[in-house]
Amino acid sequence: MKTQRVLTGITTSGTPHLGNYVGAIRPTVRASRLDNVESFYFLADYHALIKTSGDPARVQRSTLEIAATWLACGLDPEKVTFYRQSDIPEIPELTWMLTCVTGKGLLNRAHAYKAAVDKNHEAGAEPDDGVTAGLFMYPVLMAADILMFNAHQVPVGRDQIQHIEMARDMASSFNHLYGEHFTLPEAVIEEQVATLPGLDGRKMSKSYDNTIPLFVPREQLRKLIMGIVTDSRAPGEPKATEGSALFQLYQAFASADETAALAKAYAEGIAWGEAKQLLFERLDREIAPLRAVYDALIQDPARIEQTLRMGAEKARAIATPFTQRLRHAVGLRPLDRQAAPSGGPAKAAKAALPAFKQYREKDGQFYFKLTDAKGAVLLQSRGFAAPRDAAQAMARLQREGSVALDAMAQQLIAPDDVEGVTIALKAMREAGT
Ligand code: TRP
Repeated sequence: MKTQRVLTGITTSGTPHLGNYVGAIRPTVRASRLDNVESFYFLADYHALIKTSGDPARVQRSTLEIAATWLACGLDPEKVTFYRQSDIPEIPELTWMLTCVTGKGLLNRAHAYKAAVDKNHEAGAEPDDGVTAGLFMYPVLMAADILMFNAHQVPVGRDQIQHIEMARDMASSFNHLYGEHFTLPEAVIEEQVATLPGLDGRKMSKSYDNTIPLFVPREQLRKLIMGIVTDSRAPGEPKATEGSALFQLYQAFASADETAALAKAYAEGIAWGEAKQLLFERLDREIAPLRAVYDALIQDPARIEQTLRMGAEKARAIATPFTQRLRHAVGLRPLDRQAAPSGGPAKAAKAALPAFKQYREKDGQFYFKLTDAKGAVLLQSRGFAAPRDAAQAMARLQREGSVALDAMAQQLIAPDDVEGVTIALKAMREAGT
C-alpha cells in the first residue's frame, strides 16, 4: 500500500481535557505508530489568534501545554513531523495564494461564519458585527495547512468536515488554473471514538465549562471526580448504567472485563461515592505515568522549544521547495528566468524545448501542434473556429499536462506517443514557458 499522509492541527487556545485525550490524543498517538503512514501534527497557533485576540499569554501557555501533552502521551517527534504552524512562514504565503482562487461566496457559507451572522441577526445587530476577517478567512488558513503537505487524510471532528470540503474546493480551483499541484484531501471521522460526558453529564466541552483537565494533580483529579453529577439513589439501591456519566467515563478507560464488573456493581447497588473512587483509581492508573512526564516537560520549556524547531525544520524541508514551485506556477518568478525578448541564453534554452505552434489552414480554421525540441510533431489539434479557442486549449494542456488528453479528445487527434506528449508538457511546465 502506498504511504498515506495524515495531517491534523490542534488549536492552541485551551488546556487539554479528558475528552480531548480519549477523543483525539490517544487514538491519534496510536495511529501515528502504524507503518504506511506519514503523520504531520501541528499546533495551530495562527488559528488560536482568531479566538484569543488580546490574550497573548494564553496563546503561549496553551501552546506549551498542548505540546507537552502530546509528547507526554507518546507522540514520537522522530517518527512524525510535529511542528508549530507559526514556524512555517510558507503557510501564510500559501494562504494568500489560495485566497486569490477562493470565491467570497464559498466563505460566506462556512458554518462558523454563518453562525456568527445568525446570532447578530437574532440580536438585531449588523450582520458582521464583531466578526473579524480572521474568522471569515479561517477556512483558507486551514486549507493552506493541509494543502502545503499534500495530506491525503485529515482526522477531524464532525464540526470540521465542511472545512475539509472547502480545502478540496480550493485545491481544485488552484489545480485548474495552475496545474496539478495539490492532492485533494479527505476528512477522516473516527466513528467509534467516544465523546465523553463532562462533570454535568453533557458532552465534555470547554464551552460548557464542565471539563476535567487531563493533567491536574492527583488530589485535584479526585476532587473533580467526586463532583460528577449522579442521581439520588442511596447505597444498596440498584443503579442504571445507561445515561450514567460516571459509567461512560469508566468505560473509556477500562477493559471490557473491568467494565462488566462495574456494571455488576451498579446492579448490586454500589454507593456513588465508592463508584467514584473506582473511577478515580482507574483513571489515575492510566494517567499518572503520563502526568509525571508532562510535569517534567512543563518544567523544561527549552526542550519543547527545541523539539518544535526540529519539527519545523522537517516540515520546511517540504514546504520551502514546494512553495518555490507554487510561486513559479502563479507567476511570482525571478525576472531573469523568463525568456528575454530577444537573444540571450534564455532564448537558447527555450529553443531546445518542445513548443506549441499555432497556425491557420486554408479551411479558415485555427490549429496548433506540439512539437518536440527537434521539431517532430507530437500532438496535432483539430480545427478551432477562433484563435482564442485554440489558445485556451493549449493553455489547458500546458497547465494540466497529459491528464487533460482524455477530456480534450474532441479537440485533438489522439497522439501515437502519449508518453512523448507527457514528457514534453512536463518539460515545458518545468521551464516555465
Ligand atoms: N480547525 C481545527 C479545529 O479547530 C484545527 C485545525 C487547524 C486543523 N488547521 C487544521 C485541523 C488543519 C486539521 C487540519 O479542530
